[in-house]
Amino acid sequence: MKIAVVGGGSTYTPELIDGFARLRDTLPVGELVLIDPAAERLDVIGGLARRIFRRAGHDAAVTTTADLDAGIEGADAVLLQLRVGGQAARLQDETWPLECGCVGQETTGAGGLAKALRTVPVVLDIAERVRRTNPGAWIIDFTNPVGIVTRALLQAGHKAIGLCNAAIHMQRKAAGLLGVPPEEVHLDHYGLNHLTWELGVRLGGPDGKDVLPRLLAEHGAALAEFLQMPLNLLERLGAVPSSYLRYYYRHDEVVGELGSKPSRAAEVAAIERELLEMYRDPSLDTKPDLLSRRGGAFYSEAAVALAASLLGTGSAEGRSADVQVVNVRNSGTLPFLPDDAVVEVPAAVSRAGAEPLPAPPVRPLMAGLIAHVTAYEDLALDAALHGGRDRVFDALLAHPLVGQYREAEALTDRLLAHNREHLAWL
Ligand code: G6P
Ligand code: MN
Repeated sequence: MKIAVVGGGSTYTPELIDGFARLRDTLPVGELVLIDPAAERLDVIGGLARRIFRRAGHDAAVTTTADLDAGIEGADAVLLQLRVGGQAARLQDETWPLECGCVGQETTGAGGLAKALRTVPVVLDIAERVRRTNPGAWIIDFTNPVGIVTRALLQAGHKAIGLCNAAIHMQRKAAGLLGVPPEEVHLDHYGLNHLTWELGVRLGGPDGKDVLPRLLAEHGAALAEFLQMPLNLLERLGAVPSSYLRYYYRHDEVVGELGSKPSRAAEVAAIERELLEMYRDPSLDTKPDLLSRRGGAFYSEAAVALAASLLGTGSAEGRSADVQVVNVRNSGTLPFLPDDAVVEVPAAVSRAGAEPLPAPPVRPLMAGLIAHVTAYEDLALDAALHGGRDRVFDALLAHPLVGQYREAEALTDRLLAHNREHLAWL
């Protein structure tokens, strides 16, 4: 089995390698190709990847290349984890929205729109090349903003699925609090990427007993602290919101906080410098603890499990074994959204793809915001595909965190000014 990783020079890659090594019985990888235009990084990451495999006694070959077409040839799955413009572009996304009193964030709000505009054309080009060279391959997208990027891929007819670590991270968190093994915890996880709520927390599988009320009653304070949201809010919701919902429920407060501390991009850039230094050490043959300071906790577990189910090497016993939270076409799952919206929901995953489980009713308290952001995502994708200042403005005006004419104008100007080198239509 061959797996290709586009953006393989990322400092996150050792996390993935560690997952492939630990979970080799689930996903027997014979060749892993890391594809990246950054030659020096690729060299460093490729070296460490080989050492991690060697230490684990895994005999998969690790190859590296800057040549996308050569790399994807013969791959069974192509993982996308690239970042157009790198952390420098992310720093911009996190900074200029604050000048307009709006949240500056990698995937949420105006910064997320900028990322979508830069990323969608690049990802579609890669996917087109996968289709040409290797039409049977699955494209697994971690590249943010995952909801919009996945929607772009599906709309263009690609064999693609979107993945985020948020659900698996919450599964581990809930399991820890409840004192049960993570595999025991099934989340009724509903919404859009980075805009989800756990509507139920079930033990033993999708039909198991819902212990969400107990989780909130006994561990609400710990969860509230973890999510940086008030306990009363969690209690009112009667659900566990994604930590990204603090950008909505506490927007103005968070804008104040963000304006008075170094950006996450700057923090991440410092962590990355240190990581690369460590990765260069030829005696390092495990993923360093420092990597856990990145947001991608459990990302490798989620990726390996998904690839294994899509490629048919995962556990086939019972439907629940292959239920995973993924980003897929709505197709009626959330009845208040268009069919072609992309939702983040639990789905039964097999070689045939991902089939969402029937969703519980979603209350207006959540459905309203989900529908609102879906409309924004629709307009964001339109702007990413067709360009033009008006389309960018429309997407911003439609975003629930913007919504006002003056702010949408000011944000549009800044977005365009800061992304000249990345937007071909400008
Ligand atoms: C989580 C999200 C990812 C996001 C990451 C940011 O893992 O699910 O989509 O990219 O956090 O982490 P970072 O360490 O880059 O701030
Ligand atoms: Mn994510």
